[in-house]
Amino acid sequence: MSKARIAAVDVGNDSVKALFGKSDYELNIPNVIARDREDRPVIGIEELNEKDPVDGIHIRVHSPALQDNNVIYRVGNLATKSDNATELDPGSSKSEEDQSLIMLFATLALDAVRAENSSDFKKTNNIVDATYLLGTGLPLREVKEGKDVGFRSQLLGSVHQVEFLVTPKYQGQKVNIKFDEVKVYPEGFAAFINLVMDNDGRIINRDLVDKQILIQDIGGLSTDIAVIRNRNVDDDKAQGFNLGVSESLEAIREEIRTKHGVELDSRRDVVDIITKKNDRNHIMVKGSRTSVHDITDRILLDLAKKEYRHLRNVWKKNSQTEICYFVGGGAMVLKEYLKTLNNSLDGYNIEFFEDEKESIWMMANAYYKLITDFDRKNNKAAAQDPKEKKAAVK
Ligand SMILES: Nc1ncnc2c1ncn2[C@@H]1O[C@H](COP(=O)(O)OP(=O)(O)OP(=O)(O)O)[C@@H](O)[C@H]1O
Ligand SMILES: [Mg+2]
Repeated sequence: MSKARIAAVDVGNDSVKALFGKSDYELNIPNVIARDREDRPVIGIEELNEKDPVDGIHIRVHSPALQDNNVIYRVGNLATKSDNATELDPGSSKSEEDQSLIMLFATLALDAVRAENSSDFKKTNNIVDATYLLGTGLPLREVKEGKDVGFRSQLLGSVHQVEFLVTPKYQGQKVNIKFDEVKVYPEGFAAFINLVMDNDGRIINRDLVDKQILIQDIGGLSTDIAVIRNRNVDDDKAQGFNLGVSESLEAIREEIRTKHGVELDSRRDVVDIITKKNDRNHIMVKGSRTSVHDITDRILLDLAKKEYRHLRNVWKKNSQTEICYFVGGGAMVLKEYLKTLNNSLDGYNIEFFEDEKESIWMMANAYYKLITDFDRKNNKAAAQDPKEKKAAVK
């Protein structure tokens, strides 16, 4: 019998972040999918074997949880290049979109087919039977509406199959995904947990635990501000906004193109230009080092002002707040602008994370801590009395 493997998956609007097992494997895949045909053209079979599977995800997904079943998709980087690519739109519900499920299943399947996991899962005739213990999350808004319940039972209730089509290394392999347990956490709460709990389930940051704090998560398409009080998220106070950095990054890319005639491949290239240690805010134009500071400054300052206004409004309604933590990819991009604004305006007690691993992987890390903690307690209960295992699962 194979044991369930731990998976902590943050399905972000911009990208999926996932941690597996004993944190022995991680994946970060752009949240982009595109419908496709069975036989996508590739240039030579050799190329197919040399390429990284993550850059060529081409799958058919079969699951009763999907609205459109048995459809073929390109996923992640491969989908980015399609002209019919779809990204999640800001007003949509993560719990009700096929796209979230496609991303989730693709991510799990990529972990399951890796040769390294063959001892975890049973494999017969190119079919891997994979069982997971999943920790994931939904925006607070959706949890408030009770959408986590249906989302969870859809996942638990059936077997979900991912078939790799024209994907490097894995062509022809199928993965049957089952869940032993699925935990759906509210995103804001998860961020708090990551701040106060270590990987062994112990409380760190003791002086933070009982404070009233804000966590402003600036993502690709959305910004969420969670209010934490009495060790819990205050549902009524938390706010979500359809404001993220993707649009600004796109605007910078467009202006660099029109002004300097330089075509950047992706938003990620823009991020590199504005965050790199050396020669920040400079690009090469026909071999000459050229500043794009005027462009990035104007667009990012504008966004930072909007984010700051949201902070101010939420802080006003929660005047006893002691500190606000900025997290998410957007916090990395806007850090200096937000700090400067804050210094000349309200002077709130705000904090950023130095490390992109902490800032961007905040949710995935939190789900990982929560689901391993759940697993530990469950195993402990089972060891004491096997009959109690069922009860402990509750
Ligand atoms: N290392 C990095 N440094 C700075 N910015 C980054 C980095 N990685 C990604 N970004 C940018 O930050 C933005 C938000 O990334 P993040 O992963 O926080 O969003 P998300 O969680 O997927 O989206 P959402 O929170 O809206 O669901 C993206 O537009 C991305 O381009
Ligand atoms: Mg996010």
